[in-house]
Amino acid sequence: MMTAWQSVAGRAKKSGKLSRRDSGGLTCGENREITCGMTALKHHEIPGRVTVLPGRGGLPAILVTTACSEAEIYPHGAHVTRFQKLGEPPLLFMSAASEFRADMPIRGGVPVIFPWFGPRAGLPAHGIARVAAWELLEAGVVAGGAMRLHLRLPTSGEWMVDYYVTVGSALTLELAVTNTGAKDVSIENCLHTYFQVGDVQQIGISGLAGTRYLDLLLAAEFTEGEAPIRIAGEVDRTYQDTSALVEIRDPVLRRTIRVRKSGSKSTVVWNPWIAKAQRMPDFGDDEYLQMVCVESGNIAENAVTIAPGKAASLIVEIDSANL
Ligand code: BG6
Repeated sequence: MMTAWQSVAGRAKKSGKLSRRDSGGLTCGENREITCGMTALKHHEIPGRVTVLPGRGGLPAILVTTACSEAEIYPHGAHVTRFQKLGEPPLLFMSAASEFRADMPIRGGVPVIFPWFGPRAGLPAHGIARVAAWELLEAGVVAGGAMRLHLRLPTSGEWMVDYYVTVGSALTLELAVTNTGAKDVSIENCLHTYFQVGDVQQIGISGLAGTRYLDLLLAAEFTEGEAPIRIAGEVDRTYQDTSALVEIRDPVLRRTIRVRKSGSKSTVVWNPWIAKAQRMPDFGDDEYLQMVCVESGNIAENAVTIAPGKAASLIVEIDSANL
């Protein structure tokens, strides 16, 4: 039997892009499709708080404004492309070379990785969620004046996937997967947060001391030492069995970014460095200097099994403090 993700990925591969039918039932042509998407989204606008705009590549974008911050979210991939506290540089890195196309993931911000992490033969790398057109179900105000968007991945079958994006003095992201089928399901997930830094060679990443990790470049396991992690070359590591808060100390932008999480046992640290940056078509050759990914999820042996009728939530809260 074909699973929900094989069915969506198969259609995407065959047609070269995901159709709006996969993403909410509309069957418009290319331009009308965007207009239809915009019209449906506009019902959720809240004056001065939630605004729907034509984004890059003609994809719809949602601008969320609070008294202390702004964020931009694309329903394509349920992708947060910007979170910025007023008067501060953006917390999230976005590549100037990113694609904005319905059949491609966005490079930077927060890609939603689900239901698998990494490559999978014949299927899209890092799952189908980041190339799906998510549906916006609700936008509203929550406690303390923060704004919250509720998006849902349009799939049928063995699960329901909800994503809550809360914008306030922090950015809080919750990916909730409910098993709507009759059997256990096993999933990997990850909120692949790209952070903007002043100079990656000067940052220190702490919180992972003593944690076992798989070095994907060496295909070998190590245990992290006591000193903060420094980036001086390509890094691609999956830390396992950790729920720890991770901090990125950035002396150039004079801030510490904090990544708090729950429902997550894996943390990925990634920087492509020079050669991989040059190989990536949607990433600038020098952009590796201004970014680092510290990703939160459940990967490989930390994959999550969800019983029928049960749900699993991955929650990540991102904020910063001045140095
Ligand atoms: C990281 C992986 O999470 O994502 C890396 O650990 C990968 O191996 C990176 O290169 C980017 O992946 P993609 O599919 O967005 O190019």
